[in-house]
Amino acid sequence: MKNILAISGSLRARSTNLTIIENIAELFSDQINVTIYDGLASLPHFNPDLESETPVAEVADWRRQIRASDGVLICTPEYVFSIPGALKNALEWTVGTSDFAAKPVVLITASSLGEKTHEALFLVLKTIEAKISEKTALLISGARTKLNSEGKLTDAPTIEAIKLLIESFLRAIDD
Ligand SMILES: Cc1cc2nc3c(=O)[nH]c(=O)nc-3n(C[C@H](O)[C@H](O)[C@H](O)COP(=O)(O)O)c2cc1C
Repeated sequence: MKNILAISGSLRARSTNLTIIENIAELFSDQINVTIYDGLASLPHFNPDLESETPVAEVADWRRQIRASDGVLICTPEYVFSIPGALKNALEWTVGTSDFAAKPVVLITASSLGEKTHEALFLVLKTIEAKISEKTALLISGARTKLNSEGKLTDAPTIEAIKLLIESFLRAIDD
C-alpha cells in the first residue's frame, strides 16, 4: 500500500478536481491510501524572507506531508489560462527546499480547457525536480462532463486513461 498525498488546486467544496481525487482513491483503494491535503487555503503568501529552517507551522506541515508521502497526486483546474493562485503559492513554498526532489508526482489538469496550465505545471514540477513524465501527466478537458450527477467518473476513455496513469505512477514509486 502506497501513501499518496493528494492536492486539489480548487478550493471549492464541490470541486470537480476534488471529486476526481475521491474517484481515484476509491478505484485504486487496494493499492493506494490517499490523504487529501486540506491546508491550501491557510498557507501564507510565499515570501522568501520567511523561508527558514523553522517556517510557520502551516508551511512546515505542508512540507512534512510531502516528504512523508510515497507520491503526490495533483489535480487542478485552470484559472484564466494559468495555475490557480493557491496551488502556485503552495508550490512556491517548496522551491527553496528539496521536498519535491525525486518525489513521484502524478499531475491531472481537469478543467474546461486546461492546456496552458497543464504545460505550465509540468514545467514547474520539472523545475522543482519532481519525478514526473508524460506517462504520469493527464489533461482532462471538458472535465465536468466526465462525471455523473452523483460525482462518479462515468466516461470510459477517461477511466481507462486514469488507470494507465496510476499504473505508471505506481511503477515510478517502485523504481
Ligand atoms: C475565475 C475562473 C477562471 C477560469 N478560467 C478558466 C480557464 O482559463 N481555462 C479553463 O479551462 N477553465 C477555466 N475556468 C473554468 C474551470 O475550469 C471550471 O470552473 C472547473 O470546473 C473548476 O474546477 P473545480 O470544479 O475543480 O472547481 C475558470 C473558472 C473560474 C472560476
